[in-house]
Amino acid sequence: MSNSAETQTAFMPKRCFPRTSRLLGSMIGESTISVARHYLTELIPPIAPGAVIHDNGCGTGAVTRAVLELYPELLASPTKTTIHATDINPSFIDDFREYVVSQGWKDTVQPATMPAEDLSLQDSTLTHSFTNFVIFGTRDPARAAAQAYRTLATGGVAVMTTWAILPHTKALDRTREKLYGEHGMAHIRPEWSSPAHLEDLLKAAGFGRVESRQADSVLEYGNLEGWIEIAWSWMGMPRGGWTEREEREWDRDMEVFKQECLREGFEVMEDGRLRVKMVANVVVAWKDK
Ligand SMILES: C[S@@+](CC[C@H](N)C(=O)[O-])C[C@H]1O[C@@H](n2cnc3c(N)ncnc32)[C@H](O)[C@@H]1O
Repeated sequence: MSNSAETQTAFMPKRCFPRTSRLLGSMIGESTISVARHYLTELIPPIAPGAVIHDNGCGTGAVTRAVLELYPELLASPTKTTIHATDINPSFIDDFREYVVSQGWKDTVQPATMPAEDLSLQDSTLTHSFTNFVIFGTRDPARAAAQAYRTLATGGVAVMTTWAILPHTKALDRTREKLYGEHGMAHIRPEWSSPAHLEDLLKAAGFGRVESRQADSVLEYGNLEGWIEIAWSWMGMPRGGWTEREEREWDRDMEVFKQECLREGFEVMEDGRLRVKMVANVVVAWKDK
């Protein structure tokens, strides 16, 4: 799943959906929040009131939502908990701020536009730093890891996730090769599929204890064609921008992408729903006391 920090050119095929947070939410479904639920319950200690949490690259706020769903007492306790929900995309932050207000979370959750490589959060202040499916899309992952280390208090825990298996990225790479002749330009660089790559990055940033696990995840959507059009809108733009060719060939291009996704294990269930299995790398890192 690509990140939305890339700019879009002025020309957009008529059928192409704009890259809104709503579109991101439809594309990723529950696939990212389910991994967050898993590590919050299985891999790190329970979160107590008073925590200072960072949801780094929050998008539609998957980590924040998972934390508050699992620990609703954080909202009610007289001991104040703070969740900094930050993202490089200001329109995602505007949308998430609206959501936070609608949920009555505004005393706890503080949305702010902020690149992971340059966090305007104080040194050694966070108890938890979560970077959920973001690091591989940042412009400077080493710098983002160093910022996570800098902002975490000693004894604090950072969790970063990547995809070990994300079937549509291979499908996308092959589609782009076929349609645009783009070779050797993986949507997500292949080294990110290995947990060791992220472990090394976190160790180099200063983290002492670094442990990784894998977690299964599933993406479901109402129908295959609907998801393909969303994902193609998000990830189909050729390098250099959309042109009239893509508008003309929209259906044909999407068909190529759909066939490649089916080759990679996309399934259509009896009720017509799309289902695809994914596997996440979850790396948990502690800032030593
Ligand atoms: C795949 S989405 C994941 C969103 C969310 N964390 C989740 O688990 O659903 C990646 C997010 O990272 C954000 N992002 C990309 N590059 C970033 C950067 N350098 N700093 C902060 N956020 C970034 C994108 O805008 C997008 O919201």
